[in-house]
Amino acid sequence: MKKTTFILTCMALLMTAGRTGAVPASDINSLVIYYSYSGVTETLANAIANYCGGTLLEVVDHGNYPRPESSTTYNYANNERSQIDAGNWPEIKTAVDNFDQWDAIIICTPLWNGKMANPMLTFLHNHASKLAGKQVALAVTSWSSGITNVVNDAHNQLPNCTFVGNALHINYNNRSNITTMTHNWTSGLDFEAPVAAGDLRVIVGNKTFTATLADNATADAFKALLPLTLNMTELNGNEKYNYLSTNLPSAATNPGTIHSGDIMLYGRNCVVLFYETFNTSYSYTRIGAIDDPTGLSAALGSGDVTVRFEMATASLKGDVNGDGTVNVTDVTTIIDFILGGENIDFETADFNEDGSVNISDVSEIIDYIITH
Ligand SMILES: Cc1cc2nc3c(=O)[nH]c(=O)nc-3n(C[C@H](O)[C@H](O)[C@H](O)COP(=O)(O)O)c2cc1C
Repeated sequence: MKKTTFILTCMALLMTAGRTGAVPASDINSLVIYYSYSGVTETLANAIANYCGGTLLEVVDHGNYPRPESSTTYNYANNERSQIDAGNWPEIKTAVDNFDQWDAIIICTPLWNGKMANPMLTFLHNHASKLAGKQVALAVTSWSSGITNVVNDAHNQLPNCTFVGNALHINYNNRSNITTMTHNWTSGLDFEAPVAAGDLRVIVGNKTFTATLADNATADAFKALLPLTLNMTELNGNEKYNYLSTNLPSAATNPGTIHSGDIMLYGRNCVVLFYETFNTSYSYTRIGAIDDPTGLSAALGSGDVTVRFEMATASLKGDVNGDGTVNVTDVTTIIDFILGGENIDFETADFNEDGSVNISDVSEIIDYIITH
């Protein structure tokens, strides 16, 4: 990969937020991009956008394809594809500045001469770097041909996208079922929900919990100290605490009930992470709370424990020190972690996404650095 392509890819990946959990297409901001010569794919795209509430974008061609559809059209398209394969891309009239506001892209295209229709292929080619890092789903219409080559075209043009689900194929025989098929396909797509940059992350070992900061001066001051890796002391079988070296603003009240996942300030500088729910007579100032504390108690264990607090930012796979590039410093940070060192963001470090952070992630990151 060329250096410029790598930089563009990194920028695109950085613009794509970190991810957690699967959500259906209807719960995610999606852009439905379609090209249609004779209206079938347009109907399909409308049905998909209607179902998932996505924004529609039509790719408009150069206007020179012979009409009505005949062998002349096929020959024209076939010759143009030969030109494309030789690196001569045709004009299209649609261009997009960026795809920042969309978390998922659904591409709807007809099949031409066994492959992806030229205008959609061109659109993907022209926007590949801007689409890098996006989640993509593909829907194809043809008369009767299979769509393997169209799927390959999409993967070749968008090597840095994550393809979600199997491509939907509408052919002449099942066109009358387009609404049902679209509904079933769209509802079966499992996109990854974006983590909003701005969420607090609480990292214990290889478990990352998402938390929400309170809307007060204490939380603001705590946030200003992040990232923080704290050695937290066990107390009473329900909390871990650490005395910070600085005081934070406080306005303590008695909360009555402490909930598992509460992050509180005791006094002016004692950060407390609770992992049980119980009634208390003590007063605290709320810093925030873990959104879903399931597994928190198990992750924290019964003794003293190291906990890292950091703000969620758009993360680049392998960039564990968060400096925006994947380099040798990330390698040494991961090796330190494997050897029992400081906690790191597991999702970012799990480069090969096999569910563990180990020496194979290190070797793949080294390969990545050498080859990019
Ligand atoms: C230039 C061209 C080439 C085509 N080649 C094929 C083909 O190889 N196999 C096939 O099954 N259908 C082929 N078709 C038919 C279209 O894929 C099919 O009718 C599609 O659903 C049309 O979508 P649209 O109405 O959105 O343009 C071709 C259509 C055109 C215009």
